Formats: sequence, structure tokens, C-alpha cells
Amino acid sequence: MEHKRAGFATRLGAIAATVGSAVGLGNIWRFPYEAGQNGGGAFIIVYIACVALLGIPVMLSEFIIGRSTHSNMKGALRKLAPKSKVYNMAYICILGAVLVLSFYSVVCGWVVEYIWQAVMGGMQGHTPQEYSAMFSGFVASPWKGVMWTLLFLFINFAVLLRGVQKGIERISSILMPLLFVILIVFCINSLMLPNSHKGLEFLFSPDFSALTWRGVVDAFGQAFMSLSLGVACLVTYASYFNDETSLTKDAVVIASLDTLVAILSGIVIFPAVFSFGMQPEAGPKLVFEILPAVFQQMAGGYFWAILFFILLFFASLTSTISLSEIFINFLIEEHHLTRKKATWISAIVVVVLAVLCALSFNVLSSFKVFGMNLFDLFNYVSSNVFMLLGGLFTAVFVGWFIDRRVVVEQLTNKGRLNVPVMNYLMFCLRYVAPVAVVFIFLQLVGII
Ligand code: PFF
Repeated sequence: MEHKRAGFATRLGAIAATVGSAVGLGNIWRFPYEAGQNGGGAFIIVYIACVALLGIPVMLSEFIIGRSTHSNMKGALRKLAPKSKVYNMAYICILGAVLVLSFYSVVCGWVVEYIWQAVMGGMQGHTPQEYSAMFSGFVASPWKGVMWTLLFLFINFAVLLRGVQKGIERISSILMPLLFVILIVFCINSLMLPNSHKGLEFLFSPDFSALTWRGVVDAFGQAFMSLSLGVACLVTYASYFNDETSLTKDAVVIASLDTLVAILSGIVIFPAVFSFGMQPEAGPKLVFEILPAVFQQMAGGYFWAILFFILLFFASLTSTISLSEIFINFLIEEHHLTRKKATWISAIVVVVLAVLCALSFNVLSSFKVFGMNLFDLFNYVSSNVFMLLGGLFTAVFVGWFIDRRVVVEQLTNKGRLNVPVMNYLMFCLRYVAPVAVVFIFLQLVGII
């Protein structure tokens, strides 16, 4: 059965949707705490190197696979390598996407709670330590965590069920630039705090002795998480790109914007961390503890807090919509389900897993796998195992296994564009990616 596939009307529409997928909690919540836990500056250098050597090449691989086949990952792999069983790899991508969506929705639930708190004035008049206690109290409450997660998922799947995700993307293409501007305002504010230079030093003067091999893999995983790689999300998006889109240019623009947002977020957070005497290695709670303290000392902080968390909500929603589409599209195109049925099935699976993640901070906190609660496990495994291996597999597949002519045709738009970085790209796909796979594997099994 052929399904009608709409394209993006404009080049900007395609870029905006992909940026919408990329920019989200990964940049604003996850990047600062990962950098904080891994020594700051050194982590950022490894992160940027990873974006250039692996992130952009993997993004281009997903674009090439998606646009040359106009299919979801499984269909695409079947078209590109008809005689092999390589299409089974798509299951790893889908599983990765479901795992990401499950823990990510819990953090989106925290954002919704913070919108509520901001409106109710809960972000005003406390000390940084009290905001810390507020966050700990909030995640310790099973019903609060579950309720906000469910509310978020309800909105996410309602948007998908009603087929209004294009509308959300349109709203976001206005809100995203606003988020960007607001981050710059917050950066200026943070830079004016007492002792802000300590935060900048932490972020920008690399101390490689603070970085472990695990930290290096964390930086890789963070880059892939932030750029939405390795779960076939961009394969699905690129399957809707038109023939005029310059894949190389778009990949560079998207990766640069995404990295910029992450670094801006770091510049907001770390000067405040040092100014308020908090710990940079606080982990997932870092941003949720620091931001209320930042807003509290700003003029008009009440409104800044509301505005910021609403924008963060939309940034997260465009990411979860793209994540949800992976499983839904797969069910529709490979199992011939209706969109409604596919959306319901994915909603049920994700709700169950997300509720378990929300409960892993309280009722299920003693349930540990490899010493991690379910939230931490999903968070770690999805980026450091599924996304990395999924993305690097995609790179190796494009580098070594598909017809070189397909790659050239896609990158040059059938010879109409000149792509000076072709050799660099092929080098990254053919050599850097496999070496990275071996390195990650050795780190995972504990050899390095
Ligand atoms: N890139 C998103 C973020 O940084 O928040 C998260 C994400 C979205 C990961 C879509 C994967 C994905 F397919």
C-alpha cells in the first residue's frame, strides 16, 4: 500500500522542523549537566570535535538514506541493500527512539511542573538551597512526577492524533528564535553575577585531567542525542525533503545552531553555579535547581521564568513529536496500520515506560540495573549505546555499503551542486566512524 507522503513546502520548513527536533532538553538540560560532570572545558572540546568528525557526517548519512529512498529506516535499508538482512538494524533505531522518549517525557513533565510553579509564584523569594530542596521534594513525590509526565504525553500524542504537528512546527519556528534571544539575555545576566568568571573558566579552560574515557563516550553520546542522531529520526525527516535542499549546507547549519544553543545554555548555567556556591557536578537536577535562582535575582524574574519554561516546553514538544514519529511511521509503513492505531499503540508503550521512569525517583528507587535507576539507565543506554551504535552503523553503511553514486547524487543534487568536502566526509564515514565504534565498544565492556 502506498501512503501519501507530503513534502516540506519550503527549504526553510525542512530546516525549521529539523532544528525543532534537534534543539530541546538535550541542549538546555542535558548538555550543561554532562559538561558539569565531566570537567567542563575538556568535555566541550571533545564534544565539538565529535560534532565535526562524526555528528555532521552521521547526519548527512541519515539525510542521504532518507531522501534517496523516501522511506522510513526499515523500508530505506531494504531498498538500498535488497539482498541483505541489514534492514533489521531499523529495530535498534526504533527501540532507541522509544527509550529516549520514555525518559525524556519525564523531564518534559518537570518543565510543565515548572511552568505551573512559575505562574503560581513559586520561583520567587527563595534561596538557591531552597530551590534545590524544592526540586528534590518534587521528584520524590510519585503522584506529581507521574501526573506531569502523563499530562505532557497527553499533549504530545493529542497533537499527533489530530495530525496538527505541522502547526506546532510552525508555532515553533517563531518561538525558537525567541528562545535563542532569551538565552542571550540570560547569558548577559549570568555574566554580570559576582564570580561569574569562575563559571567561564570552568566552561572554557580545558582541564583534561578531569575527563575520563567514560566522559569522552558521554560527550559522543551527548552530541548524538543533541543532534537527534542514531534513531533514524532524520531519515524520516529527510524522506520529506525536496530535491533542491542542499544536504551538506543544511547539516552544517543545523549542527552549528544546535551546538550554539548548548553552549549558550552553558554560559547561562555555570556562572550562576559558581556565583551561588552550588556544585557543577550535580547531575540531572542541575538546571532545574539553578534556573529558579537565576530568575529570582533578575528584574521581572516572575515573567522571565514563565516565558522561559513555556519556550522550553515548545522546544521539547517539537523534539518529542519527531521522536514519536519514528515508531508511528514505522507501524504505518511497515505494518500497514492506520495513523490512529499506530499512534495509540506507541502512546501506550511510551506511557508505561515513562511512568516507570517517573517512579524510579521514588517508589521504584531501589530497583537498580548496573547500579542505576530506570531513568538513569534509559538515559545512559539510549545515548551511549543505542544512538551511538545506531548512528555509527548508519555512517559505516553509507561509507562502505551503498553505491557511491547514490551518495554523490544526493550530496550534489544530481550534479547541480559543488561539494568540496566530499573527501573529508567519506574519510569520516569510512575510517573515523568504525574506529569510534571499536573505541565505544571497548569502553562499554570496561577494557578502557
Ligand atoms: N535532539 C533532542 C534534544 O536535544 O533535546 C532530543 C532528540 C529528539 C533525540 C529526536 C532524538 C530524536 F530522534
